[in-house]
Amino acid sequence: MELKVPQTLRLEHVELREELYALTKEDNDLGIAARDLMELFYMHAIKEEERVLPALEALPFLAEGKITDSMRFLKDIADDLKGGLYGELFEDHKAIVASLKNIAQSALDQGRKEVVKFVERFILHAQMEEEIFYPAARMTADYFQLLMKCRTDSD
Ligand SMILES: [Fe+2]
Ligand SMILES: [Fe+2]
Repeated sequence: MELKVPQTLRLEHVELREELYALTKEDNDLGIAARDLMELFYMHAIKEEERVLPALEALPFLAEGKITDSMRFLKDIADDLKGGLYGELFEDHKAIVASLKNIAQSALDQGRKEVVKFVERFILHAQMEEEIFYPAARMTADYFQLLMKCRTDSD
């Protein structure tokens, strides 16, 4: 069994994706900006969901000192993050936030407050990942590596 993205985060991505998808259907500037973002977000979310956020499923178990078989996958996550993925995620966010600002501008021009609120929520999601989820995923993966090394050394 492999690690999975925690449900709370998975649902947040689903919600953002659905709301963004609805905006891509619009035949105006907002629709164009939303389609640009959809392209960026699609690739970015795959990276997060397949190579980063699954580490967080292990976090509550490790916090209680429990080790499960699926934690083997943390080695790949630790290697990927160290190998440049960590910086890539932050770079992706810069492009995503720039694209979100285009959406917000079009929404303001149209007086669409609900879309501006959606943009704010999306930016907050990215900030929360940068401040909490990415570092937590990285530390979880690194901590597990360290734990395994200590165990091997003490054998
Ligand atoms: Fe995300
Ligand atoms: Fe993100």
